[in-house]
Amino acid sequence: MLPRINFTETDAYLSLSEHFADIAESHIHDLFSEDPDRFNKFSIHFEEILLDYSKNRINETTRTLLVGLANECGLKEAITAMFSGEKINETEGRQVLHTALRNQSNTPVMVDGQDVMPEVNRVLAQMEQFSNSVISGEWKGHTGKQITDVVNIGIGGSDLGPVMVTEALKSYGTRLKLHFVSNVDGSHIAETLKKTDPETTLFLVASKTFTTQETMANAHTARNWFLGHGAGQKDIALHFAALSTNEKAVTEFGIDAANMFGFWDWVGGRYSLWSAIGLSICLAIGFDNFKALLGGAHAADKHFQETSFEKNAPVILALLGIWYNNFFAAESHVILPYDQYMHRFAAYFQQGDMESNGKSVDRNGDHVTYQTGPVIWGEPGTNGQHAFYQLIHQGTKLIPADFIAPAQSHNPIGQHHELLMSNFFAQAEALMNGKTRSEVVDELVKAGKSAEEIASLAPFKVFEGNRPTNSILVKKITPRTLGTLIAFYEHKIFVQGIIWNIFSFDQWGVELGKQLANKILPELKADGPVHSHDNSTNALINLYKSWKA
Ligand code: F6P
Repeated sequence: MLPRINFTETDAYLSLSEHFADIAESHIHDLFSEDPDRFNKFSIHFEEILLDYSKNRINETTRTLLVGLANECGLKEAITAMFSGEKINETEGRQVLHTALRNQSNTPVMVDGQDVMPEVNRVLAQMEQFSNSVISGEWKGHTGKQITDVVNIGIGGSDLGPVMVTEALKSYGTRLKLHFVSNVDGSHIAETLKKTDPETTLFLVASKTFTTQETMANAHTARNWFLGHGAGQKDIALHFAALSTNEKAVTEFGIDAANMFGFWDWVGGRYSLWSAIGLSICLAIGFDNFKALLGGAHAADKHFQETSFEKNAPVILALLGIWYNNFFAAESHVILPYDQYMHRFAAYFQQGDMESNGKSVDRNGDHVTYQTGPVIWGEPGTNGQHAFYQLIHQGTKLIPADFIAPAQSHNPIGQHHELLMSNFFAQAEALMNGKTRSEVVDELVKAGKSAEEIASLAPFKVFEGNRPTNSILVKKITPRTLGTLIAFYEHKIFVQGIIWNIFSFDQWGVELGKQLANKILPELKADGPVHSHDNSTNALINLYKSWKA
């Protein structure tokens, strides 16, 4: 059982509150002036990844106190509990063992007295064999042609991870063209089917539960489209595979159990890209690269388990988040990859983080009296710079930012990468230093402005700076480094959930909307006006019914 500790009642929290009063007004650039060794003290090298967290509003005391907070909240014990298969997802009575899926050391991982590694390895072997035969062209469609297109039908964790990884690793692509359909809006599948040929398309129906409304609607539409183009029932076996934990529902849908890639209820949906849900990744980049992705994550798991908290990348990322969320009252956290291929990274962790830590009831079942998970958002640099950075630089809100960039580009064309990287370095520096009034005045004098113009313009051109950032510099985005990065962020979420005393691995909040949608669906189909809701909902539904085609 996970500890039940209200972190705001710990000694460390009290000390942090006192310390906050001392340090809150300090400027990061002064912290650098005071300590020439600051970068070394506040950075972590792990393989080909550097986490530089020196541009934060912290000093060594802050870190010591934050680590003390983690200790007082039982983090060490909680990490052991997760990796050893305790049922830490208590509200669903489940273990949390996505780490077993990438456990390349093959050490036994016990669930209810049974080692799960043989099963994990069996499914991995099945994925390897299948993906190799589709990629090589050995696997043929019902008219004898090779598969050219793969459509993954899934939503949430059964979509976002594969989309993010296949995009991030696009330069490792096989000959197959990947498509992802998630939205129940018919336009999503309709537009995808326009681009594909039923004779050469493979559909992966990716759903842990195999009951998710959006996925099942899209899967039925795909099947009808396939059968409507001259294929017979028996041909489904060559064009449909299922990635799921629910064998009964898979076979009822008409997919052969031989084409089912299984996983287990101890894999949370938003942590499932490492499981059979990753089959689209295997097809997109080849099984060896998928293995390398798992290897990178496994290395991160070991780092997380074995490294002291002061030098532990996910722990440090988590503690910094708590520092801003609970002491500086920051409401959001922005993730800014300076890598176009990583354009879905922030979206992926929007689900990972917000579905995990968007909770307001603690592990005792009581309403929390403090802030939990922040709003996670972000877009790739440099596009974000021309969209929302203005607010990060000069707005009224404190938005801690993670900058992520590779030193080596997969497309070294002209000076593009240097242009990109110069922006990466410049933004974090500008956010920290800002621009003082005297710098602004000097600049305006040099530009030949009059004293009057300078007085009126200067206030708008001053940047306070002191905006905290982490810089994550990666040698290159490879399957291994990406696997490590993803696992670091996963563990960051875990650490924060432990300290906030919430359950990070359930998602009851998603249920209510689903239940209501199921209640409303028959009302939309029935004749006549609806009166069963509040007047707003009734009016909206009734106008919709009068307008619908
Ligand atoms: O959004 C809720 C959720 O349960 C996610 O956690 C999950 O990733 C998604 O729905 C899809 O679920 P499934 O894989 O069962 O279709």
